[in-house]
Formats: sequence, C-alpha cells, structure tokens
Amino acid sequence: MENRSTFATRMGGIAAAVGSAVGFGNIWRFPYITGQDGGAAFLLIYVFSVLLLGIPLMVSEFVIGRSAHSNIVTSFKKVAPGTKWHWVGILSLLVAILILGFYVVLSGWTLRYTYLAAINSMEGDDFGAFVSSPIEPLLWTIAAIVINAGILLGGVQKGIERASNIMMPVLAVILLLLVINSCFQPGFSEGMSYLFVPDWSKVTGQVWIDALGQAFFSLSCAMGILIAYGSYLGDNTKVGKTACTVAGLDTIIAIMAGIVIFPACFSFGIEPEQGSSLVFVTLPRVFLQMPGGYILGVLFFLLITLAGITSCMSIFEVPVSYLQEEWKMSRKTAVLCSSIWALGLGVVCSLSLGLLGDVTLWGDNIFDFLDHLTSRYMMPICALLISLFVGWWLDKEIIQDTITNWQNDSGWYLRPLLWIMRVFAPICIFIIFLSGLGLI
Ligand code: PFF
Repeated sequence: MENRSTFATRMGGIAAAVGSAVGFGNIWRFPYITGQDGGAAFLLIYVFSVLLLGIPLMVSEFVIGRSAHSNIVTSFKKVAPGTKWHWVGILSLLVAILILGFYVVLSGWTLRYTYLAAINSMEGDDFGAFVSSPIEPLLWTIAAIVINAGILLGGVQKGIERASNIMMPVLAVILLLLVINSCFQPGFSEGMSYLFVPDWSKVTGQVWIDALGQAFFSLSCAMGILIAYGSYLGDNTKVGKTACTVAGLDTIIAIMAGIVIFPACFSFGIEPEQGSSLVFVTLPRVFLQMPGGYILGVLFFLLITLAGITSCMSIFEVPVSYLQEEWKMSRKTAVLCSSIWALGLGVVCSLSLGLLGDVTLWGDNIFDFLDHLTSRYMMPICALLISLFVGWWLDKEIIQDTITNWQNDSGWYLRPLLWIMRVFAPICIFIIFLSGLGLI
C-alpha cells in the first residue's frame, strides 16, 4: 500500500473528478428540473446549494480519502482507528455497487444509441421495445462493462487518468459545438428565457430541497467515489481548490446542457418536462430534423456516452480499490470480480424492464427500486453520517493538515467547513431525506 498510485498531475485528478461528476444528472436531470423549478431562480438556489453543501461535502470526502490514501473502508479504519466508523465506508461501498448495477445498463443504452446514430438508423426506433427486450440491452450492457473494465485495468494513471484526460476535453468540445448550433435554432430565445429568466413564483420549499439534492448527487457525493478518487490526489494537491474547480466545471457543463436541450425543444414545440424519454426518444428526432441532423445526433449521443463512461468508471473504482486493498486481490482479479458483479446485477436490472417486469419491490420494478433505494435512502444516510463524522469526530489536525497540505497553504475555510459539516449539512440532508420519504 506504500507504493499506492496517485494521479500523475493535478489536471488529471480534476479531469477524473469532473468526469465522475458530469453524468446523466447534468445532461438530463439538471436542465429538466431547472426548467420546471423556476429557471434562473432555481439556478441561483442551485449555485447556493453547491457552495454551501456540495463543495463542503466534497472537500470532506476528499479529506478522508487523501489523508488515508486508501480505499473507502480502509480509509475510515485509518482515520478513526478502533471505532465503528468504517461501517460508513461499508455502506458507501454498498451504495456504489448497487448504483453500478443499473448505471452499466444505462451506459449500454447510450452506446446503442451512439451506434444507431452513427449508422443513421434512428428513424423508426422504438425505445420502449428496445429496453424491454431480453437480449439486446444485455449485449450493450456487456459492451459498457468491457469498456470500463478495459480502462480500469490500466490502473489509476494509465487507465482512469488517461481516459479522463482524453474523454473530458472531447466532451467539452462536443458540448461547445452543440451550444453553438443551439444559438441558431428558432427556439433559442424562448429556450434561453425558460432557462435564465427567474420565475420566483415557482420557488417553493420543494425547489430548495430539489436544489440541495441535485447539488450533492451531481457532484457524486455520498457514493464512495470522492473518497476513492480523493485517495489518489497527490500530497501537494489543494483539496479545497480542486473541489471548487470540479464543482464549477460541473455546473457550467450542466448549464451548457440546458442551452442545448431547451432551444431544441422549443424549436420543435416539445415539452421539456417529459422524463427520460426526452433524451432517448424526443431529442434524437429533433436533431434529425435540423440541418446537419446526422452529425448532431452522433455528437449528442457521443456526449452522453462519454459522460456515462467517465461516471461509470468512477463508481467501478470503488469496489475495485476495496477488493484490491482489503481482500488483497490483484487489480486484474478485482476488476474481473467487480465486472462479474456488475453484469449479474445489470442482467437483473435490464430484465426488470421486460421479462421480470412483474417482480416488484415496494411497488417498483428492480431497476427503479435500486435507483430509489440508493438516491432516496442510502445516499442521504451516508452523506449525513459523513458530515457528522467530519464535523464532530474526525481529528481536526487531520483535516487541517489535509486542507493546508501540512501548513503550506492557507486553510482559512477550516472553521466554516467544520460548522457546515456540524450543523448546516446534517439539517439540510435530513430534510432531503424526509422529502425522499415523502414526509414533507
Ligand atoms: N454525478 C453523476 C451525475 O450527475 O450523473 C452521478 C453519478 C451517478 C456518478 C452514478 C456516478 C455514477 F455511477
């Protein structure tokens, strides 16, 4: 463990963390809730939530990972030896491996649609028939797992870091091209007002809860990822600055996705609030009708595919690093075991949209059940425990040394960070949790 890898460069670490943060949450969920929850009014509340909850949680997870330079479970054992806090690590690990099961299926879908767009066969595609069919989605899920496993086998520097350094700039260029195209759409100004003109009348308590929840989901908090990636940050990396950069880029990318999606919807008279079919069914048709539709369709799906892969590999890394260090497996075996797990759960999730559709847990099919279980219950519990741990329990010296790089940098934000983690974050997360339970 002494020769454990770190990211080779600061930029590499940032690219990997941004890669994890930028996912379906940015490209589909963020634009959609922004539109629904009051446009710029929501945007302001969201930025406030990122600053006051997202970034502090992110810094806290980085602190745990980087000070221990270990996987999710060992990290807790190292920073709080002889206590039961490592159970929070185990809970986060569980969140990661459950999310992995349905995220590989989603990633598979994006691969299929990129392929369809590339061979120009989008016309007449039936999304519902595809996702509920027994075999085809599984083949694409396997493809997604193979791509992820291939990257992870390369290790931290030659796998995750290199892939992120290539994929994230490509993602940014594609998004920029789509934004430029969006400026020339007839629905551009309508889309922009939907996104940027504040409608304060829509701001209710629920809007605040949505913003807080989206802030910590979008930054990949409470899934073990930031502790795992934090453990690969070099000892001279400034964790506060890194968290701010990642959060800033994640938010900019989410806003850019809104600039692509809304004008496209308004140009063709489509409701932007229609759920996941928007991305896989409606938008492809919209792109096809635009001049240069073929290339726009390919670019759009490539964008979602890249966002999916870089997120998927980050969640994969959580069990991989755990198996490697706690179970003393070689990286190869750890990747293989995690892939087999992802495939097994992926098969169940995928079939739950078709053949196993009748199997329900608390009224949800297995796919939705795992999504709800993790995002409504397990993640808020993890986030709550992590904030209490960092705020009240973790040795302040460890926090100080990590955020100041052993007194080499300024650590002015130590006090505000501690108070946010002690009081503000637990209250906010508890409210999000209650709202997820439908109690408020
Ligand atoms: N930050 C990601 C997003 O906004 O989509 C959240 C995420 C989900 C990351 C699932 C990784 C993952 F496997």
